[in-house]
Amino acid sequence: FVAPPDGKFAKILVPTVDTVRSSWLLRTFMEVERPVLFVGDSGTAKTVTIQTYIGGLNPEFFQQVTMNFSSRTSSMDLQRNIESSTEKRTKDTYGPPMGKKLITFIDDFNMPRVDTYGTQQPLALLKTFIERKGLYDRGKELNWKKMLDLLQCGAMGPPGGARNNVDPRLISLFNMFEIQFPASESLEMIYETILKSHLSKLNEEIAGAAAPLTQTILQLYAFICERLPPTPSRFHYIFNLRDLSRVYEGLLLSTIDKFQSGPEFVRLWRNECLRIFHDRLICEEDKVLVRKHISDLVTEKFSAMADAVNQDPILFGDYRNAMKEGEAQLYEDLADYDSVKVVFEEVLEEYNMKKKNMNLVFFEDALEHLTRIHRIIRLDQGNALLVG
Ligand SMILES: Nc1ncnc2c1ncn2[C@@H]1O[C@H](COP(=O)(O)OP(=O)(O)OP(=O)(O)O)[C@@H](O)[C@H]1O
Ligand SMILES: [Mg+2]
Repeated sequence: FVAPPDGKFAKILVPTVDTVRSSWLLRTFMEVERPVLFVGDSGTAKTVTIQTYIGGLNPEFFQQVTMNFSSRTSSMDLQRNIESSTEKRTKDTYGPPMGKKLITFIDDFNMPRVDTYGTQQPLALLKTFIERKGLYDRGKELNWKKMLDLLQCGAMGPPGGARNNVDPRLISLFNMFEIQFPASESLEMIYETILKSHLSKLNEEIAGAAAPLTQTILQLYAFICERLPPTPSRFHYIFNLRDLSRVYEGLLLSTIDKFQSGPEFVRLWRNECLRIFHDRLICEEDKVLVRKHISDLVTEKFSAMADAVNQDPILFGDYRNAMKEGEAQLYEDLADYDSVKVVFEEVLEEYNMKKKNMNLVFFEDALEHLTRIHRIIRLDQGNALLVG
């Protein structure tokens, strides 16, 4: 495993038995130009596997279109996307530029709305497109446009929730593979590998932590899945690989300048676990449960440093130098409320000089919330929904 050169977390794919198998199947079927469809629960790496495959193709011979279907996608959207990547080759044949193949990746295949007649319109069009290798021009003339050199692949979750049953006649055109949730050894391997390759850049003292930290978080994850299942009033208690990945994304923000010793790093680990798992919980009882379990795990596995790691408050951010231009902004332990407050007060003062006066009182909860939000929105593809 080698980390992607641009360091983008979203592009990391650690080869495991499952991903090697599904990539091989995908490649083999694409080589003989047969459509492939991956089906599996959320977080089974369908999207990453296909994107990695497509991203690795030689752009001289392949052109790609990726579409994320949603309930609002219309057949016209599909047609426009295909047409914008194809050009006229002869009088009535169309295709990607000569010598290239067009590979269409459709994610969330079964999301489109089912209309009054029981049809999912974009999928009905897709069926024509694959079966008859072409489309009708939707202009005045309604000519048949024959299309050449096209490949299709797709991914979807099993029907249920917002996902619909798909016309079996369309599915029959695809080679369908079920993608399983990775076994716990694979999970361990994925995350240990990601962390190890990052920790090799830090001190030796920290480098050994990859394995125990990964085992600990998997225990925590299993505990949370078992004790806090989604219920009607807590329907958002859905924890999957994405959340584990987010914890690691946070761990990968550490730098050698700010993290020198074991306790510092384990403390970061505790912060990331709290941010990802604990912040989503909606009542004090659940929060206490998770907080206590994390502290217990730390005490059990890292007893020598437990006191330093379990100390509250726990605030991590990269805004200590927010007001000092030209200084590096590195993710670090911000110690206590006082040191955070000073920074926010400076920022507010500056803001008030430029814009309409805003009168904020930075009480402790406010400081914690600001730190959390800031942590999320500075990440790539970071997004948050605040509920209260
Ligand atoms: N082998 C792996 N190596 C690295 N990361 C992985 C691996 N398998 C899964 N992940 C992580 O799991 C997360 C979910 O993967 P992905 O988005 O591909 O799921 P999906 O199957 O497309 O789910 P959905 O049905 O919700 O779209 C990603 O954040 C990805 O980083
Ligand atoms: Mg996906």
